[in-house]
Amino acid sequence: MKPQTVAVIGLGGIGGVAAAALQLAGRHDVLACPRRPLAGLTFQHPGGTAEIPLRCLADPDAATPADWVLLCTKTQDTPAAGAWLRRLAGPATRVAVLQNGLGHADRVRPFVGDAPVVPVIVYYNGERTAPGSVRLRRVAGHDMAVPDDAHGHAFAALLEGSMIGAHPAPDFALLAWRKLLINIAVNPLTAITRQRQRVLRRPDIRALGLAMLEEAVAVGRAEGAALRPDEATAIWATLMTYPEEAGTSMYHDTMAGRPLEAEALTGYVVAAGERHGIPTPLNAMMLTLLRAVGDAGG
Ligand SMILES: NC(=O)c1ccc[n+]([C@@H]2O[C@H](COP(=O)([O-])OP(=O)(O)OC[C@H]3O[C@@H](n4cnc5c(N)ncnc54)[C@H](OP(=O)(O)O)[C@@H]3O)[C@@H](O)[C@H]2O)c1
Repeated sequence: MKPQTVAVIGLGGIGGVAAAALQLAGRHDVLACPRRPLAGLTFQHPGGTAEIPLRCLADPDAATPADWVLLCTKTQDTPAAGAWLRRLAGPATRVAVLQNGLGHADRVRPFVGDAPVVPVIVYYNGERTAPGSVRLRRVAGHDMAVPDDAHGHAFAALLEGSMIGAHPAPDFALLAWRKLLINIAVNPLTAITRQRQRVLRRPDIRALGLAMLEEAVAVGRAEGAALRPDEATAIWATLMTYPEEAGTSMYHDTMAGRPLEAEALTGYVVAAGERHGIPTPLNAMMLTLLRAVGDAGG
């Protein structure tokens, strides 16, 4: 692939790692589009630590169309990133959305015209450890999954030679639902209890989590995802492999008084349940509580 211009919007855990990994590989022209200017990043990765200089734009009005745009904000910040998206997405641009939840293309469509959108399931753990510092941790066999189509393959090719990779997955829709199921269990339960994942070891929380998952699995099946009959218990077994002391993104946002990514996760399940006439009382209750926690600033 010839060198591409790659604009990264949102330089937090996920975007910071993506920008640093691409810049370190040196094959493409990386442009950082953060909310606050930064000159570079300290990049902690499994092989060591690197100081990564970054070309940074501070003002969306100064942006011009890029070959690739990587949107790496939290889902609720997508409209606020619209000014970047409108400027950076031209007729030949592809937009990769590195966000949790489903409906990636619908979220960005109002801002990117007809540009092809690549939904990305992110499996790597990216953490902003301090202002100007990010850390990559690998927690799964693949760093990211993308649809097994021409645009997904193009995104995988873009990352070739870098420290993070994307796997074009024929069962992308199923994987996206499995990631959503993990998120609608572990995020609300840790955020509302204000406890790290150790809380999932409680039998009463396990019972609640499984019941929330059963509701969401029924919705996922109605949406066409080929989820297994024992999907809820399989998801819970996966959660039990995560370290007890690990937080979650919603736990950290709650503790820091930041807005919560509730609408794109639990909110998606509740809204889809309503569309299909499938009751989701436990997830609806979680959504109400998360909205109240988020509105109160954590
Ligand atoms: N972190 C993970 O390990 C992980 C794993 C899987 C999936 N995800 C998903 O990946 C997405 C990104 O998560 P994250 O953990 O990287 O979040 P994050 O650390 O909070 O980073 C988001 C970044 O977006 C920036 N931002 C917000 N509005 C912006 C705007 N209008 N213009 C430019 N930048 C803007 C924020 O700026 P400020 O610095 O000014 O706040 C922040 O740096 C989420 O959907 C999350 O659920 C995360």
